[in-house]
Amino acid sequence: VTIDNGSFQWSAPSNIALVKYWGKRENTNSSNAISSEQIPANPSVSFTLNHCKTITKLAFAKKQDQSSFSFDLLFEGQPKEEFKPKIQKFLERIAVYCPYLKEYHFTIATENTFPHSSGIASSASGMAALAMNIMSLEKALYPEMTEDFFYQKASFLARLGSGSACRSVKGSVVVWGNNTSINGSSDLFGVEFPNTIHANFKNYQDTILLVDKGEKVVSSTVGHNLMHNHPFAEQRFEQAHQNLSKLKKVLENGDLQQFIQIVESEALTLHAMMMTSLPYFILMKPNTLEIINKIWKFRNETQTPVCFTLDAGANVHVLYPENVSETVLQFIQAELVGYCQNGNYICDQIGEGAINL
Ligand code: PMV
Repeated sequence: VTIDNGSFQWSAPSNIALVKYWGKRENTNSSNAISSEQIPANPSVSFTLNHCKTITKLAFAKKQDQSSFSFDLLFEGQPKEEFKPKIQKFLERIAVYCPYLKEYHFTIATENTFPHSSGIASSASGMAALAMNIMSLEKALYPEMTEDFFYQKASFLARLGSGSACRSVKGSVVVWGNNTSINGSSDLFGVEFPNTIHANFKNYQDTILLVDKGEKVVSSTVGHNLMHNHPFAEQRFEQAHQNLSKLKKVLENGDLQQFIQIVESEALTLHAMMMTSLPYFILMKPNTLEIINKIWKFRNETQTPVCFTLDAGANVHVLYPENVSETVLQFIQAELVGYCQNGNYICDQIGEGAINL
């Protein structure tokens, strides 16, 4: 099939890891440099979010000169030169898997549903949304493609943009990385959690407390590299495997006490890795700790199954089942919002993945 021009539009959500991806496998096989890029040192699993999304429209038109990539980038309607190198690098990385890309000039128009520079990483949702659009183009060129191939390759491409983006394509709970307890798991793409998820996790809530909206102190590229020659790396990677196996059972049996223990330990371990690397970093702020302590106190006093997780930054994700939403939201408003920058927080919950618009 030949196609001269057209456009596609997809939204893709952000995700929050329960077992954290932190560290990439070293690029050992130089003859196979591309396929050994962005391979995680340990498996991870995340909840897909619902409201925090990137919406990306990809317009394409056949061009004469097919020797290089050509694209314009609009962010919230305005040309955005700063983001172009990241997209250029992504296109270069995926070129061997998508040889048709140089035949077109692209206009990529993208926007986020969450406030710009809110401290919420948009790389997962952004790279996933772009990968979905590219796969729509590929599907238009090769219509015989199966739906399974479409989503698997979308996740594979998203991974090459930003590792965790491969978990933002399809499904509400997504595993990335080889692990013996998860059927079909792969280092190359995310897979939907293969088993039935317990009703306790239906519509699980994630209220994101925006403690610090500043630029990331440590980019994730730098962060992942800190795990090379890290004194605790091997134990950490092994622990992630064990935590994923434990969490697999918990997601099936609905044991919220176990869930809380694994998820909070994973968050603190991620930060412990950063505190014990060289150079070392503390990415929590005083208010992050205030919030964690308040959550622990509230949980002790009320027995409400609420817990926290963290990304590579100071913001706190507060996770809880839907049936305790009312009490937890009251608690958040009364006791935690004061620790957020300008009182800002985002109410989200578990979602389903990318949507073709
Ligand atoms: O996808 P990256 O390279 O930005 O790494 C994300 C790393 C964490 O968000 C800290 C953990 C994770 O698994 O999402």
